[in-house]
Amino acid sequence: MTEEKKDIQAFWGALYDSLYADTTDITREQLLVALDALEDMFRLREHMAVVEMPLADLNGKRVLEIGPGAGGHSALFAHHGAIVTAIDITEARAEATAAKFKLLGVDERGCRAMQGDAEKLPFPDDSFDIVYSNGVLHHTSDTGKAVDEAWRVLKPGGRAVIMLYCKSSWHYWINMWLCVGVLKGKAFGDINWLGRATEWGGKDAQTVENPITRCYTRGGIGELFGRYKNLSLRKGEFYFYLIPKLGRFYRRWQIKRYGTHPGGFLVYGEPWPMQSPLERWLGRIMGFAWFISAEKPPSPGS
Ligand SMILES: C[S@@+](CC[C@H](N)C(=O)[O-])C[C@H]1O[C@@H](n2cnc3c(N)ncnc32)[C@H](O)[C@@H]1O
Repeated sequence: MTEEKKDIQAFWGALYDSLYADTTDITREQLLVALDALEDMFRLREHMAVVEMPLADLNGKRVLEIGPGAGGHSALFAHHGAIVTAIDITEARAEATAAKFKLLGVDERGCRAMQGDAEKLPFPDDSFDIVYSNGVLHHTSDTGKAVDEAWRVLKPGGRAVIMLYCKSSWHYWINMWLCVGVLKGKAFGDINWLGRATEWGGKDAQTVENPITRCYTRGGIGELFGRYKNLSLRKGEFYFYLIPKLGRFYRRWQIKRYGTHPGGFLVYGEPWPMQSPLERWLGRIMGFAWFISAEKPPSPGS
Protein backbone atom coordinates (compact mmCIF):
# COMPACT_ATOMS: atom_id res chain seq x y z
CA MET A 1 0.00 0.00 0.00
CA THR A 2 1.35 3.49 -0.87
CA GLU A 3 2.11 6.05 1.86
CA GLU A 4 -0.78 8.17 0.56
CA LYS A 5 -3.20 5.25 0.91
CA LYS A 6 -1.97 4.68 4.46
CA ASP A 7 -2.71 8.37 5.19
CA ILE A 8 -6.18 8.00 3.66
CA GLN A 9 -6.81 4.95 5.82
CA ALA A 10 -5.53 6.74 8.96
CA PHE A 11 -7.75 9.78 8.39
CA TRP A 12 -10.97 7.83 7.75
CA GLY A 13 -10.18 5.43 10.60
CA ALA A 14 -9.78 8.35 13.06
CA LEU A 15 -12.94 10.02 11.79
CA TYR A 16 -14.80 6.74 12.20
CA ASP A 17 -13.82 6.61 15.88
CA SER A 18 -14.86 10.22 16.39
CA LEU A 19 -18.24 9.89 14.67
CA TYR A 20 -19.48 6.38 15.19
CA ALA A 21 -17.81 4.82 18.22
CA ASP A 22 -21.01 5.28 20.23
CA THR A 23 -23.44 4.15 17.54
CA THR A 24 -22.35 0.58 16.83
CA ASP A 25 -23.94 -1.09 19.82
CA ILE A 26 -27.51 -1.37 18.54
CA THR A 27 -30.13 -4.09 18.46
CA ARG A 28 -31.82 -5.45 15.36
CA GLU A 29 -35.04 -3.60 16.31
CA GLN A 30 -33.16 -0.30 16.69
CA LEU A 31 -31.45 -0.86 13.35
CA LEU A 32 -34.79 -1.47 11.59
CA VAL A 33 -36.23 1.76 13.06
CA ALA A 34 -33.04 3.63 12.09
CA LEU A 35 -33.23 2.32 8.51
CA ASP A 36 -36.83 3.55 8.11
CA ALA A 37 -35.69 6.94 9.41
CA LEU A 38 -32.69 6.93 7.04
CA GLU A 39 -34.90 6.26 4.02
CA ASP A 40 -37.31 8.99 5.09
CA MET A 41 -34.42 11.47 5.50
CA PHE A 42 -33.06 10.57 2.06
CA ARG A 43 -36.51 11.23 0.54
CA LEU A 44 -36.66 14.68 2.16
CA ARG A 45 -33.20 15.45 0.80
CA GLU A 46 -33.89 14.01 -2.68
CA HIS A 47 -30.74 11.95 -2.18
CA MET A 48 -29.53 9.54 -4.89
CA ALA A 49 -29.91 6.62 -2.41
CA VAL A 50 -33.67 6.87 -3.06
CA VAL A 51 -33.86 8.79 -6.37
CA GLU A 52 -31.27 7.14 -8.63
CA MET A 53 -31.33 3.85 -6.70
CA PRO A 54 -34.35 1.76 -7.70
CA LEU A 55 -35.25 0.67 -4.13
CA ALA A 56 -38.49 -1.02 -5.18
CA ASP A 57 -36.59 -3.04 -7.77
CA LEU A 58 -33.51 -4.07 -5.77
CA ASN A 59 -34.69 -7.52 -4.76
CA GLY A 60 -32.09 -10.06 -5.89
CA LYS A 61 -29.89 -7.41 -7.57
CA ARG A 62 -26.15 -7.62 -7.00
CA VAL A 63 -25.05 -4.26 -5.61
CA LEU A 64 -21.49 -3.19 -4.82
CA GLU A 65 -21.07 -0.24 -2.46
CA ILE A 66 -17.63 1.35 -2.51
CA GLY A 67 -16.81 3.18 0.74
CA PRO A 68 -19.86 2.31 2.85
CA GLY A 69 -18.70 4.33 5.87
CA ALA A 70 -20.60 2.92 8.83
CA GLY A 71 -22.81 0.82 6.53
CA GLY A 72 -26.11 2.73 6.61
CA HIS A 73 -26.62 2.87 2.83
CA SER A 74 -25.55 -0.75 2.31
CA ALA A 75 -27.88 -1.93 5.08
CA LEU A 76 -30.76 0.01 3.48
CA PHE A 77 -30.19 -1.66 0.08
CA ALA A 78 -29.86 -5.08 1.73
CA HIS A 79 -33.09 -4.42 3.64
CA HIS A 80 -34.74 -3.86 0.24
CA GLY A 81 -33.57 -7.28 -0.92
CA ALA A 82 -30.31 -6.50 -2.71
CA ILE A 83 -27.36 -8.87 -2.41
CA VAL A 84 -24.85 -6.27 -1.27
CA THR A 85 -21.08 -6.41 -1.30
CA ALA A 86 -19.42 -3.50 0.48
CA ILE A 87 -15.74 -2.59 0.33
CA ASP A 88 -14.01 0.12 2.34
CA ILE A 89 -10.35 1.00 2.77
CA THR A 90 -10.94 1.41 6.54
CA GLU A 91 -11.14 -1.89 8.41
CA ALA A 92 -13.46 -0.52 11.15
CA ARG A 93 -15.92 0.72 8.52
CA ALA A 94 -16.01 -2.65 6.77
CA GLU A 95 -16.58 -4.31 10.16
CA ALA A 96 -19.40 -1.91 11.08
CA THR A 97 -21.09 -2.67 7.75
CA ALA A 98 -20.67 -6.43 8.21
CA ALA A 99 -22.16 -6.12 11.73
CA LYS A 100 -25.28 -4.46 10.28
CA PHE A 101 -25.63 -7.23 7.68
CA LYS A 102 -25.43 -9.78 10.49
CA LEU A 103 -28.07 -7.98 12.58
CA LEU A 104 -30.40 -7.96 9.58
CA GLY A 105 -29.63 -11.62 8.88
CA VAL A 106 -28.77 -10.74 5.26
CA ASP A 107 -25.28 -12.22 5.57
CA GLU A 108 -27.05 -15.56 5.17
CA ARG A 109 -28.13 -14.65 1.65
CA GLY A 110 -24.69 -13.44 0.58
CA CYS A 111 -24.34 -9.84 1.78
CA ARG A 112 -20.73 -9.25 2.82
CA ALA A 113 -18.39 -6.41 3.69
CA MET A 114 -14.61 -6.33 3.41
CA GLN A 115 -11.59 -4.10 3.62
CA GLY A 116 -10.15 -3.15 0.22
CA ASP A 117 -9.30 -0.43 -2.26
CA ALA A 118 -11.64 1.21 -4.80
CA GLU A 119 -8.73 1.40 -7.24
CA LYS A 120 -8.06 -2.34 -7.13
CA LEU A 121 -11.36 -4.12 -6.64
CA PRO A 122 -10.94 -7.83 -5.82
CA PHE A 123 -13.84 -8.93 -8.04
CA PRO A 124 -14.03 -10.48 -11.50
CA ASP A 125 -15.21 -8.44 -14.50
CA ASP A 126 -19.00 -8.14 -15.02
CA SER A 127 -19.99 -9.03 -11.43
CA PHE A 128 -22.57 -6.42 -10.32
CA ASP A 129 -25.89 -4.96 -11.50
CA ILE A 130 -25.24 -1.67 -9.68
CA VAL A 131 -22.10 -0.02 -8.34
CA TYR A 132 -23.01 2.61 -5.74
CA SER A 133 -20.69 5.05 -4.02
CA ASN A 134 -21.59 8.16 -2.01
CA GLY A 135 -18.92 10.76 -1.38
CA VAL A 136 -15.91 8.43 -1.65
CA LEU A 137 -14.12 8.42 -4.99
CA HIS A 138 -13.08 12.10 -4.80
CA HIS A 139 -11.02 11.13 -1.70
CA THR A 140 -8.89 8.43 -3.33
CA SER A 141 -5.49 8.85 -5.00
CA ASP A 142 -6.66 8.18 -8.56
CA THR A 143 -10.37 8.88 -9.02
CA GLY A 144 -10.23 7.99 -12.75
CA LYS A 145 -8.83 4.55 -11.93
CA ALA A 146 -11.62 3.96 -9.40
CA VAL A 147 -14.31 4.97 -11.93
CA ASP A 148 -12.71 2.58 -14.45
CA GLU A 149 -12.71 -0.20 -11.83
CA ALA A 150 -16.43 0.40 -11.26
CA TRP A 151 -16.91 0.00 -15.02
CA ARG A 152 -14.91 -3.24 -15.09
CA VAL A 153 -16.91 -4.95 -12.35
CA LEU A 154 -20.31 -3.80 -13.65
CA LYS A 155 -22.24 -6.31 -15.73
CA PRO A 156 -22.98 -5.11 -19.28
CA GLY A 157 -26.23 -3.16 -18.95
CA GLY A 158 -25.40 -2.38 -15.31
CA ARG A 159 -25.47 1.07 -13.72
CA ALA A 160 -23.09 3.20 -11.71
CA VAL A 161 -24.77 5.47 -9.13
CA ILE A 162 -22.10 7.75 -7.73
CA MET A 163 -21.89 11.01 -5.80
CA LEU A 164 -18.87 13.22 -6.35
CA TYR A 165 -18.32 16.77 -5.10
CA CYS A 166 -19.34 19.58 -7.40
CA LYS A 167 -16.99 22.46 -8.16
CA SER A 168 -19.72 24.65 -9.67
CA SER A 169 -21.26 25.09 -6.23
CA TRP A 170 -21.64 27.68 -3.45
CA HIS A 171 -19.79 25.41 -1.05
CA TYR A 172 -16.72 25.17 -3.27
CA TRP A 173 -16.44 28.83 -4.29
CA ILE A 174 -17.65 30.66 -1.17
CA ASN A 175 -17.15 28.38 1.84
CA MET A 176 -13.98 26.66 0.67
CA TRP A 177 -12.17 28.66 -1.99
CA LEU A 178 -12.96 32.17 -0.69
CA CYS A 179 -13.20 31.64 3.08
CA VAL A 180 -10.65 28.86 3.63
CA GLY A 181 -8.47 29.01 0.51
CA VAL A 182 -8.06 32.76 0.09
CA LEU A 183 -9.02 34.51 3.35
CA LYS A 184 -7.30 31.91 5.54
CA GLY A 185 -4.54 31.51 2.96
CA LYS A 186 -4.77 27.68 2.78
CA ALA A 187 -4.91 27.45 -1.02
CA PHE A 188 -1.41 28.81 -1.51
CA GLY A 189 1.40 26.32 -1.91
CA ASP A 190 -0.61 23.24 -0.93
CA ILE A 191 -1.92 21.10 -3.77
CA ASN A 192 -4.26 19.18 -1.40
CA TRP A 193 -5.61 22.23 0.44
CA LEU A 194 -9.20 21.13 -0.24
CA GLY A 195 -8.64 18.01 1.85
CA ARG A 196 -7.36 20.13 4.72
CA ALA A 197 -10.47 22.31 4.38
CA THR A 198 -13.06 19.54 4.77
CA GLU A 199 -14.48 16.52 6.48
CA TRP A 200 -14.07 16.43 10.24
CA GLY A 201 -16.80 15.89 12.83
CA GLY A 202 -17.88 14.01 15.90
CA LYS A 203 -16.71 14.01 19.50
CA ASP A 204 -12.91 14.13 19.12
CA ALA A 205 -10.64 17.02 18.15
CA GLN A 206 -9.02 16.55 14.73
CA THR A 207 -5.49 15.13 14.90
CA VAL A 208 -5.15 13.67 11.38
CA GLU A 209 -5.54 15.52 8.10
CA ASN A 210 -7.66 14.46 5.16
CA PRO A 211 -5.10 13.85 2.42
CA ILE A 212 -7.37 14.28 -0.61
CA THR A 213 -10.61 15.96 -1.66
CA ARG A 214 -11.40 16.82 -5.28
CA CYS A 215 -14.32 18.73 -6.80
CA TYR A 216 -15.56 18.38 -10.37
CA THR A 217 -17.13 20.56 -13.02
CA ARG A 218 -19.75 19.09 -15.34
CA GLY A 219 -17.01 18.73 -17.98
CA GLY A 220 -14.75 16.91 -15.52
CA ILE A 221 -17.50 14.39 -14.77
CA GLY A 222 -18.04 13.95 -18.52
CA GLU A 223 -14.36 13.04 -18.91
CA LEU A 224 -14.33 10.63 -15.95
CA PHE A 225 -17.42 8.81 -17.24
CA GLY A 226 -16.49 9.08 -20.95
CA ARG A 227 -16.87 5.36 -21.65
CA TYR A 228 -20.28 5.05 -19.94
CA LYS A 229 -23.53 5.81 -21.76
CA ASN A 230 -26.75 7.57 -20.69
CA LEU A 231 -24.82 9.75 -18.23
CA SER A 232 -27.20 11.82 -16.14
CA LEU A 233 -26.19 14.47 -13.61
CA ARG A 234 -28.04 16.58 -11.11
CA LYS A 235 -26.98 18.77 -8.23
CA GLY A 236 -28.10 18.56 -4.61
CA GLU A 237 -27.09 19.33 -1.00
CA PHE A 238 -26.89 22.94 0.12
CA TYR A 239 -26.47 23.94 3.78
CA PHE A 240 -26.05 27.49 5.13
CA TYR A 241 -24.52 26.03 8.28
CA LEU A 242 -21.40 25.09 6.32
CA ILE A 243 -20.44 28.76 5.95
CA PRO A 244 -17.32 29.10 8.11
CA LYS A 245 -17.87 30.91 11.45
CA LEU A 246 -21.34 32.36 10.71
CA GLY A 247 -22.75 28.93 9.89
CA ARG A 248 -22.82 27.77 13.50
CA PHE A 249 -25.24 30.61 14.42
CA TYR A 250 -27.47 29.66 11.50
CA ARG A 251 -27.34 26.00 12.58
CA ARG A 252 -28.66 26.86 16.06
CA TRP A 253 -31.51 28.88 14.55
CA GLN A 254 -32.18 26.20 11.91
CA ILE A 255 -32.52 23.44 14.53
CA LYS A 256 -34.93 25.62 16.56
CA ARG A 257 -36.95 26.50 13.45
CA TYR A 258 -36.98 23.18 11.56
CA GLY A 259 -35.87 20.58 14.11
CA THR A 260 -33.69 17.54 13.52
CA HIS A 261 -34.34 14.24 11.77
CA PRO A 262 -33.36 10.87 13.34
CA GLY A 263 -32.31 9.60 9.88
CA GLY A 264 -28.85 11.12 10.41
CA PHE A 265 -27.96 8.62 13.17
CA LEU A 266 -26.71 5.77 10.96
CA VAL A 267 -24.71 7.93 8.55
CA TYR A 268 -23.46 10.85 10.69
CA GLY A 269 -23.69 9.37 14.18
CA GLU A 270 -26.20 12.08 15.17
CA PRO A 271 -29.59 13.47 14.06
CA TRP A 272 -29.58 15.53 10.85
CA PRO A 273 -30.53 19.23 11.09
CA MET A 274 -33.53 19.60 8.77
CA GLN A 275 -32.93 21.72 5.67
CA SER A 276 -35.11 24.74 4.96
CA PRO A 277 -37.13 24.68 1.71
CA LEU A 278 -34.83 27.48 0.44
CA GLU A 279 -31.76 25.29 0.99
CA ARG A 280 -33.37 22.39 -0.83
CA TRP A 281 -34.11 24.65 -3.79
CA LEU A 282 -30.62 26.17 -3.77
CA GLY A 283 -29.18 22.65 -3.67
CA ARG A 284 -30.67 21.94 -7.11
CA ILE A 285 -28.91 25.01 -8.52
CA MET A 286 -25.64 25.32 -6.61
CA GLY A 287 -25.43 22.21 -4.40
CA PHE A 288 -22.15 20.55 -3.45
CA ALA A 289 -23.09 17.09 -4.69
CA TRP A 290 -23.19 15.75 -8.23
CA PHE A 291 -25.62 12.83 -8.20
CA ILE A 292 -24.40 10.77 -11.15
CA SER A 293 -26.06 7.87 -12.88
CA ALA A 294 -24.43 6.16 -15.87
CA GLU A 295 -24.73 2.84 -17.70
CA LYS A 296 -22.26 0.30 -18.97
CA PRO A 297 -23.69 -0.56 -22.40
CA PRO A 298 -25.11 -4.07 -22.86
CA SER A 299 -22.87 -6.49 -24.78
CA PRO A 300 -23.45 -6.41 -28.55
CA GLY A 301 -26.19 -8.84 -29.51
CA SER A 302 -27.73 -9.08 -26.02
C1 LIG B 1 -17.06 10.63 3.33
S1 LIG B 1 -16.96 8.93 3.78
C2 LIG B 1 -18.46 8.37 3.00
C3 LIG B 1 -19.05 7.19 3.72
C4 LIG B 1 -20.42 6.74 3.20
N1 LIG B 1 -20.39 6.46 1.77
C5 LIG B 1 -21.48 7.75 3.52
O1 LIG B 1 -22.00 8.39 2.60
O2 LIG B 1 -21.82 7.90 4.71
C6 LIG B 1 -15.68 8.30 2.70
C7 LIG B 1 -15.45 6.80 2.81
O3 LIG B 1 -14.60 6.39 1.73
C8 LIG B 1 -13.70 5.40 2.21
N2 LIG B 1 -12.58 5.39 1.25
C9 LIG B 1 -11.70 6.39 0.98
N3 LIG B 1 -10.84 6.01 0.01
C10 LIG B 1 -11.17 4.74 -0.34
C11 LIG B 1 -10.65 3.80 -1.26
N4 LIG B 1 -9.58 4.07 -2.05
N5 LIG B 1 -11.24 2.58 -1.37
C12 LIG B 1 -12.31 2.26 -0.59
N6 LIG B 1 -12.84 3.12 0.32
C13 LIG B 1 -12.28 4.34 0.44
C14 LIG B 1 -13.40 5.87 3.62
O4 LIG B 1 -12.86 4.86 4.44
C15 LIG B 1 -14.78 6.33 4.08
O5 LIG B 1 -15.53 5.24 4.60
